[in-house]
Amino acid sequence: MAKTLRINGKRLYASLAELGRIGAYTDERTKIIGVNRLALTAADGAGRRLVVKWLRQAGLRVTVDRIGNVYGRRPGREDGLAPVMMGSHIDSVPTAGRFDGCLGVLGALEVVRTLNDAKAATRRALIVGFFTDEEGCRFGTDMLGSATATRRLALERAYALKDRNGLTVKGELKKIGFLGAEPVGLLRPHAYLECHIEQGPTLRHKRLDIGVVMGVQAISWQELAIAGKSAHAGTTPMSFRRDAGLSAARLNLALREMTRSGRYGREMRAAMGAVRLAPNMVNVVPGRAVCTVDLRNPSDALMKQAEADFARLCRKVAKADGVAIKSRRTAKTPHVPFDRSVQALIAGQADRLGLSHAPILSGAGHDAQEWSRLCKTAMVFVPGEYDGISHNPREFSTLKQCADGVNVLLGAALVLAEEKR
Ligand code: HGY
Ligand code: MN
Ligand code: MN
Repeated sequence: MAKTLRINGKRLYASLAELGRIGAYTDERTKIIGVNRLALTAADGAGRRLVVKWLRQAGLRVTVDRIGNVYGRRPGREDGLAPVMMGSHIDSVPTAGRFDGCLGVLGALEVVRTLNDAKAATRRALIVGFFTDEEGCRFGTDMLGSATATRRLALERAYALKDRNGLTVKGELKKIGFLGAEPVGLLRPHAYLECHIEQGPTLRHKRLDIGVVMGVQAISWQELAIAGKSAHAGTTPMSFRRDAGLSAARLNLALREMTRSGRYGREMRAAMGAVRLAPNMVNVVPGRAVCTVDLRNPSDALMKQAEADFARLCRKVAKADGVAIKSRRTAKTPHVPFDRSVQALIAGQADRLGLSHAPILSGAGHDAQEWSRLCKTAMVFVPGEYDGISHNPREFSTLKQCADGVNVLLGAALVLAEEKR
């Protein structure tokens, strides 16, 4: 059956477009339509309700767990066996496109829709899942829902996380109506698959159809609180100043230098994505700065070295600028390798479909890295246009690129769903 089945690419693409209209905005500079569905906002709630409606229309039994993860279950012939789960996230960064995460969720739904059309049953149940706050940019830690469902994060700790306005995860889940009743931490899938855009230039530049994802690189997030002294910008002599904004700038430049140095390998990446100065006024030397540091490295050892060196650098800058710098850890995940047999299965499906493919390490974090602690897991990447740009409204993959990825997802899921053990 698997040999001839193909997903309905037009239906998939139309669903991506419809979901992309929720939280849509026009980028004022480029006039491109972007998506802002920040986790647990009203837009996220509306997106969630639309996908839940589609899951139910596809005949799935929908449950919501206590951290707001949503699962749509299609029973299997031997329904007592552990299910095969496919999923991703539908929350977004504030300047997103309509593919990041959504391709994995709506691709999984399209697999189910295709099986329904074919009146095809599978030995194992299939689950379509979407997980709370994968992006992590509102409440500070990424893969929040998956990390809680797989017990890396305690539920009460996740509930208590606050956004910049002091609103908690629990309160915001309740507000959008997704504070579910299902316990977290009980689901143990037989296997987990995720289809996702690459969010980088590699596949497109190499003219490859499919990326067989070997794993995810290490991720380290911290928030720095820099305390200096606010002072008059005109009367205060430069030598008297304790300028928190200057210290933040110095550390940002130092991060760039670290990535260029080669001391942490050629793949080291760093970003100071958020910088908030206070009182943020033209004629006041900033007395406070809060900034985020995002480090990425394929090597855990080099990541550890980079973190230690950066901490030393913070102490040096603090001394030189007469400021106090406090670091708060907000996210940390190691390099996560994916299951080799599932990678081979994905490569085999790409071959069967006549699609070119190559192994690739994920530069971005994904829900799959959390589920990979519980069951055999791997990901299918599809290329993106415009150098695979992502976390930007220009994010774009063609109908064929998306359909190719989801056809590989379909084939791999069918093989896994027929496994006896
Ligand atoms: O930040 C990441 O790697 C992912 O987009 N959450
Ligand atoms: Mn994503
Ligand atoms: Mn993302």
